[in-house]
Amino acid sequence: MTLEIPETALQWQKKAREIADQYVRPLAQKYDRLQEYNHEATKIVAQEGLLGVFVPDEYGGENSSVLGLCLVVEELAKADSGYGVAFAVNALGSFPLIVGGTEEQKKKYLPKIARGEMLTAFCLSEKFAGSDAGGLRCRAEKDGDAWTIKGEKKWTTNGGVADLYTVFAVTDPTSKSRRISAFLVEKGWDGFTIGKTEDKMGIRCVPVVETHFDGVKVPEENLLGGKPGLGFKHSMMTLDLARPGVAAQAVGAAQGALDLALVYANRRRQFGATIASFQMVQQLLADMAMQTEAARWLVYASAAAADRGESNLTKRAAMAKCFATDTAVKVATDAVQVFGGYGFMEDYPIAKYYRDAKILQIYEGTNQIQRLVIARNLIKEAGQLAHLEAFIPGEWQELYGASDMEVPADAVKESEQARA
Ligand code: CAA
Repeated sequence: MTLEIPETALQWQKKAREIADQYVRPLAQKYDRLQEYNHEATKIVAQEGLLGVFVPDEYGGENSSVLGLCLVVEELAKADSGYGVAFAVNALGSFPLIVGGTEEQKKKYLPKIARGEMLTAFCLSEKFAGSDAGGLRCRAEKDGDAWTIKGEKKWTTNGGVADLYTVFAVTDPTSKSRRISAFLVEKGWDGFTIGKTEDKMGIRCVPVVETHFDGVKVPEENLLGGKPGLGFKHSMMTLDLARPGVAAQAVGAAQGALDLALVYANRRRQFGATIASFQMVQQLLADMAMQTEAARWLVYASAAAADRGESNLTKRAAMAKCFATDTAVKVATDAVQVFGGYGFMEDYPIAKYYRDAKILQIYEGTNQIQRLVIARNLIKEAGQLAHLEAFIPGEWQELYGASDMEVPADAVKESEQARA
């Protein structure tokens, strides 16, 4: 595969870096402590058009590039991983519309999203439906020419700040494959309220809330895609596109932690020398840099696969998400180690990187789910490797009077094949 980063994406990356240096890093500790949203940064991000990087140009965006999204998220997360997700979650909330919306729905909402006039959120998870995304209980029933949603959602990132919510609800409880539909719900509609705001270990500048739907009436034209039953598929397609973005957040978080550790290792002196001159510290720094760089290219490759519409995107996106987020946790942990006792103190910046990193292995699909997705796809693809069968020796064993019934059918078949 080839990977070329378009000039426009590099320009967005530069803009994001400038915004991160001016509006994100200097305010990171304040909003982390207060557990409040960084509106200053979002105002400037919107003004500079960065919320358009994941929106197709025919709907007022900047050519809809997942790679562009990743470059922007990486820069923002380098300064503050929490702000990285505060930005990236707008892509997660908008991808259902991009992959499954009708022309009218796209025309109505995407230009506002691209201009930053509407921030978005993704309401899939529930208290009892996390990894098992298909096990939702939130219900939507047809009522004349509108739908009525009843239920509640958990872990809605950006909830309260967002203006548009993609809400997944059961519309046909009797169906296995067409049980769920998605709805576009606007902030302020009757019956739609924000419930508990979570008190979190990390990413504290972005709200994560419960959202409540108490008989919310949704017009038929806000049923995503105009047809019921497509919700689960749309949610999975969305996650395939969004996971490179969360992986980019992890790369930014890892790079941000590494940069701080490098500066500190060059400054801190022990035994009459900087700790950067000690080989054990050098090994930590070298491993952190290698792993971050490896994660970065896996993320860019998965983003490019998304932009090219490659059929193996699901596996690539899961690999990037899993590898990059495991890397961020490892690198942030080692960065705290480089800072020693000061790393444990909240007036130093590195403790926050450590706290912010953990959630990366959990949201947008736990890393156990990513490994499950990767393995399922590998096993499916193994059919293309049948030519290797000839290179793996087989074993033959007599039945010694046992009937075929007593020996597992597979074992008999393998033995027969080996004898042949
Ligand atoms: N693209 C398109 N369709 C897909 C698909 C994909 N990537 N993956 C599955 N499907 C389709 C299947 O083809 C199948 O279709 P049919 O019924 O027509 O055959 C259907 O969906 C069901 O597929 P599975 O049998 O594979 O479904 P499953 O129940 O075994 O679940 C899963 C699969 C991968 C475990 C899935 O439930 C999953 O991804 N779980 C994790 C959920 C998740 O990531 N949640 C995060 C929420 S967002 C969040 O955290 C964000 C935040 O706040 C910041």
